[in-house]
Amino acid sequence: MNVLGLEARQVDNSPGQKPILYLEGVSVSFDGFKALNNLSLYIDTGELRCLIGPNGAGKTTLMDVITGKTKPDSGSVYFGQTLDLLKMDEPAIAEAGICRKFQKPSVFEMLSVFENLELALATHKGVWATLFAKLNNHQRERIEQVLETIGLTEHRSQLAGILSHGQKQWLEIGMLLMQEPKVMLVDEPVAGMTQQEVERTAQLLLSLQGERSIIVVEHDMEFVRSIAQHRVTVLHEGSVLTEGTMEEVQNDPRVKQVYLGD
Ligand SMILES: Nc1ncnc2c1ncn2[C@@H]1O[C@H](COP(=O)(O)OP(=O)(O)OP(=O)(O)O)[C@@H](O)[C@H]1O
Ligand SMILES: [Mg+2]
Repeated sequence: MNVLGLEARQVDNSPGQKPILYLEGVSVSFDGFKALNNLSLYIDTGELRCLIGPNGAGKTTLMDVITGKTKPDSGSVYFGQTLDLLKMDEPAIAEAGICRKFQKPSVFEMLSVFENLELALATHKGVWATLFAKLNNHQRERIEQVLETIGLTEHRSQLAGILSHGQKQWLEIGMLLMQEPKVMLVDEPVAGMTQQEVERTAQLLLSLQGERSIIVVEHDMEFVRSIAQHRVTVLHEGSVLTEGTMEEVQNDPRVKQVYLGD
């Protein structure tokens, strides 16, 4: 039994993995409309989970709940065994290691790629103090590492404003990585990308799993197929419709129906 009194079978179907996020019976209403309806979801440590579902299924609302932007009417949301996310505000949740990438890239266009990553180190110091402070070796190494991971080493001195849309998205993922998150939430990362950028984004996200848990919301099914190695969760009308491998959910007649009915 864990902190929520759940049986192990409910939270874990891959032996050896511990859940890092627990959502239980979560409901969110907007003017009586249930955007999330008694939703339960468990994310394992290091897992890359894809979240799919038709428009309005509640995917973004779910991310809003995890990051503290929206407080549910009922249910519980735990980070690890002990952190009750419903008792924490947005900054505290981010500080605890849950970070989010919104759909639109929000890099600092007038700064270089390197400086953008440098800025991501800024927590309390503020923008200018961070840019003028001398980086220590660890920080410098960390930036180099992240540049490598996101494939922008050669673009380090370029202004972020002249990067392609895909490169800006990777830079923003890099900015999140600078904060060494334990959980990353990524909402529709490949919208507007070229085919080649989509493929590189898939490789990037695959390379990031393991060290951190990642939840990816995406409508591009080919992309989802290329990164879904474990479980895919299908959301519909604010609840989990089904979970399984990509093949399992794609062959599920209920899944076909909710997409066709959309
Ligand atoms: N702040 C809000 N006020 C009122 N209704 C909202 C609010 N946020 C979301 N909703 C409604 O809740 C439902 C779920 O929205 P949500 O954005 O979570 O869906 P989604 O699965 O992310 O959809 P999409 O795939 O289109 O991004 C929708 O019907 C939406 O209109
Ligand atoms: Mg959405």
